[in-house]
Amino acid sequence: MSENQFSDQNYRLFSQFLEKSSGIVLGDNKQYLVKSRLSSHVKSQGTQTLDELIEKIVIRQDRQAQLVAIEAMTTNETLWFRDTYPFSLLESTILPQFQHHSSALKIWSAACSSGQEAYSIAMTIANYKKKNPGSLRAGAQILGTDISEEMLNKCRLAEYEPLALSRGLPEAFKHEFFDPIEDAKFRVKTHLKATATFRQFNLLDSYSSLGQFDIIFCRNVLIYFSPEVKKQILQKIAACLQDGGILFVGASESISDLNQHFTMVRCNPGLYYLKKSK
Ligand SMILES: C[S@@+](CC[C@H](N)C(=O)[O-])C[C@H]1O[C@@H](n2cnc3c(N)ncnc32)[C@H](O)[C@@H]1O
Repeated sequence: MSENQFSDQNYRLFSQFLEKSSGIVLGDNKQYLVKSRLSSHVKSQGTQTLDELIEKIVIRQDRQAQLVAIEAMTTNETLWFRDTYPFSLLESTILPQFQHHSSALKIWSAACSSGQEAYSIAMTIANYKKKNPGSLRAGAQILGTDISEEMLNKCRLAEYEPLALSRGLPEAFKHEFFDPIEDAKFRVKTHLKATATFRQFNLLDSYSSLGQFDIIFCRNVLIYFSPEVKKQILQKIAACLQDGGILFVGASESISDLNQHFTMVRCNPGLYYLKKSK
C-alpha cells in the first residue's frame, strides 16, 4: 500500500471513531477528505503511511494522534457577522428586550471556531450600548467554546490577518474595535476582548458545567452531525437556556423537529428560536 492509501476497513473504523468522539459524520466515499486532512500528519505522528496513522488512532488508540485527527477533521470556516441578520436582529430586536437586565447578559457562542462569531457579538453589544446610553448596565459575558484547541488559541490571541479581516468586517468597526499590529495584522482591542472568554468544550459532552445563558449562537456545526446527535444537542441547549432565552442556528439549519422546546420567530430577514416557558 502506498504512503497515502488506506484500507476500506480502516476508513470505516476511522469514520466510527470520528463520529463517536466529535459527532462528525463522514458518510460514504469521503476517503479523499481523510486523505487531504490527515496526510500532512503522518510523519509528525511518527508513522510511515496514512494506513499506519489510522491504525495508531483507531486500534492503538493513541490519545495524541486522536486529538490531532479530530483537529484536522473539523471544518473551521467562519467570518465576521456571518449571515448578517443574527447580528442585526440582536441589535434591533433582542438587545432591547434585555436592556434593563440587572445582571450581565450571558451569551454562548458554541462552536466558535477562530472567534469571529464571539467578537461580532461583542462588537454588536458595544455598538448598541454606545447608541443607547445607560442600557445593559451590567454588561455582557460572552463564552466562546469549540472542540479545537488550535481554534481556541486563535480566539484568545485575537489577532487576525488581512484576509480574515476582509471577510465581513465593516471598515468602521475595524478602526473602532481593533488595533493595528505588525505584518498588516489587527488585534481586537483589550476592552472588547475582556467581554469574551474561551474554553474547550465538546458539544457531545454534559452541559452541566456551563451554567445558564440568555442567548445561544450554535451555528454551522449541527450540519456535521447525525439527526439523533443533533436532537440530543438541541435538547441540552434548551436545558441551559433561560426561559424566554434565544437560540440562533445557521441560516441553512432547521430545527423544526424541536418545537416542544422552542417557538420559531420569523423576522424579515431571518429568524431565531425562542425557548418556551415551562
Ligand atoms: C464551520 S465552523 C462554524 C463557526 C461559527 N459558529 C460560524 O458559524 O461561523 C464549525 C466549528 O465547529 C467545531 N466543532 C465541530 N465538532 C464539534 C464538537 N463536537 N463540539 C464542539 N465544536 C465542534 C469545529 O471545530 C469548528 O470550529
